Amino acid sequence: MANQAKWWQKAVFYQIYPRSFSDSTNTGVGDLRGIINKLDYLKELGIDGIWISPFFPSPQEDCGYDITDFGSVNPEYGTMKDFEELLKKSHKNDIKIILDIILNHTSAQHPWFLESKKDQTNEKKDWYVWRDGRGKSGKKPPNNWNSMIGGSAWEWCEERKQFYLHQFLTFQPDLNWRNPDVQIAMFNYIRFWLDKGVDGFRLDIIQTLFEDKHFKNNPKSWRFFPSHNTNEALFQKPKYTQFLPETIEVCRKLRELVSSYSPERMLVGEAAGNPQMIKPLYGKNGDGLHLSFNFKFAGQPFSARKFRRVLEETQEILPEPYWPCYVFSNHDSNRLISRQKQNIEKAKLLAILLLTVRGTPFIYYGEEIGMLQAKVPKEKQLDPISKIKIWGIPLGARYGRDGCRTPMQWDDSPINAGFSKKSKIVPWLPIGQNKSINVKSELSDEKSMLTYFKKLIKVRKQYEALQIGQLDVSEDSNSDLLIYKRTFQKQQLTILLNFSSKIQNIATINKVKQIFSTKLFKEQKDVSDEITLEPFEGIIVEQMK
Ligand code: GLC
Repeated sequence: MANQAKWWQKAVFYQIYPRSFSDSTNTGVGDLRGIINKLDYLKELGIDGIWISPFFPSPQEDCGYDITDFGSVNPEYGTMKDFEELLKKSHKNDIKIILDIILNHTSAQHPWFLESKKDQTNEKKDWYVWRDGRGKSGKKPPNNWNSMIGGSAWEWCEERKQFYLHQFLTFQPDLNWRNPDVQIAMFNYIRFWLDKGVDGFRLDIIQTLFEDKHFKNNPKSWRFFPSHNTNEALFQKPKYTQFLPETIEVCRKLRELVSSYSPERMLVGEAAGNPQMIKPLYGKNGDGLHLSFNFKFAGQPFSARKFRRVLEETQEILPEPYWPCYVFSNHDSNRLISRQKQNIEKAKLLAILLLTVRGTPFIYYGEEIGMLQAKVPKEKQLDPISKIKIWGIPLGARYGRDGCRTPMQWDDSPINAGFSKKSKIVPWLPIGQNKSINVKSELSDEKSMLTYFKKLIKVRKQYEALQIGQLDVSEDSNSDLLIYKRTFQKQQLTILLNFSSKIQNIATINKVKQIFSTKLFKEQKDVSDEITLEPFEGIIVEQMK
């Protein structure tokens, strides 16, 4: 396994939301040069790869996930030269760059859609999923398909006198993947970025590329709210709109394409669903995506039993040669530490879990300093989801995504937390409430979250067992404790996580050496008979030879 281990299995990834990371031009909007300026910081943190959320031209109706040109840089974020410099400098620092590519849809302002919607005879008439309506007037949606955020997935277009499909928001029309020209065009964009030297892609809502060619109605479901266990929601099971065999086939073709490049590139899928549902994206015998996010960590309550269940389920469903991929936070979900009611000890315990299980970890910008979910006042909210009502029920309070997208807090300056170069520049989203959480102060604090993350990543790097070792959940785990072993060749490590507010004593048969603790200041030590864990403490011990 050692020699065959791939860079993307060992890597710690870091997601950057470019609009919010660092503003080098004093526009209040983050940019590519901002990322270049912070490469030293990222190198110090110890990450190996960056996933950059979309920076392509876009009217920003869905914060860049609505693209009008897949092959260039939105001037707000800089130029192609800036991107090339970022790529070059990252590679010099041994940091890989993966881009966010949206194959499912474009912006409704994309020239392809502007052409396609004109009439039923134009050159791009089959580039999107168009369909006649039902009923006498022809203005009833073609079938019952829901969009992922509720309401019909069909929108009437008066110009063309037909409905178009949008599996996400109305201004994100779905491309017609049954049209070979669409496939060629999108694969060419992938090739374009691969030729530039990018190390891979995060594939946005990849499960939705194809829909049933007979447009059959989706079956009903009892589930209203989305969850990390299933993709059923809004009283519908997306049987004919998600994870179709044709979509799996495109994943295989994408793998084929990236495999023709050297050094090795990587594909990670974003698809809501449980491990069983995402497994087909990996293909047969590893001929599909390299990774697909397992969002189950993000959906668990703080419980040793629940996390044990996720680990065991994932192990069972994705054994070798499959490789899991875990994440707690991203630009679509509330920040981890706020989900733990701002309890730093709990957040540290979950971080050790993320970075020591078998699978590739993704950290979201700001997670490493313990940035909180910000309260963005209603009048400043920009996320379209925060304004959506489904059957009259406003979803904003529960699903609005502005609060996890606020500017990175580099220092405690009152207006922009050091996000822009000049202190008076007002950022595109207001900064979070707690300004004392910032990089500058944490860099010099031995007990800060940032110091903790740095040390944790360093330990992970020192031990191959933590990166690529086999994982076995210990039977000594119980409702308070999650214990698992990572083994690689002669390295044997045990990770003990105390999910309770009580001290836990665990007898050990063999002599072990404690190599890391969430209580950083606890000295490294040899332990014989008994390991003691403080409330919410997590430790890593090494078996003595
Ligand atoms: C993905 C992105 C999300 C975006 C949506 C539509 O889920 O993570 O931010 O709104 O796809 O592209």
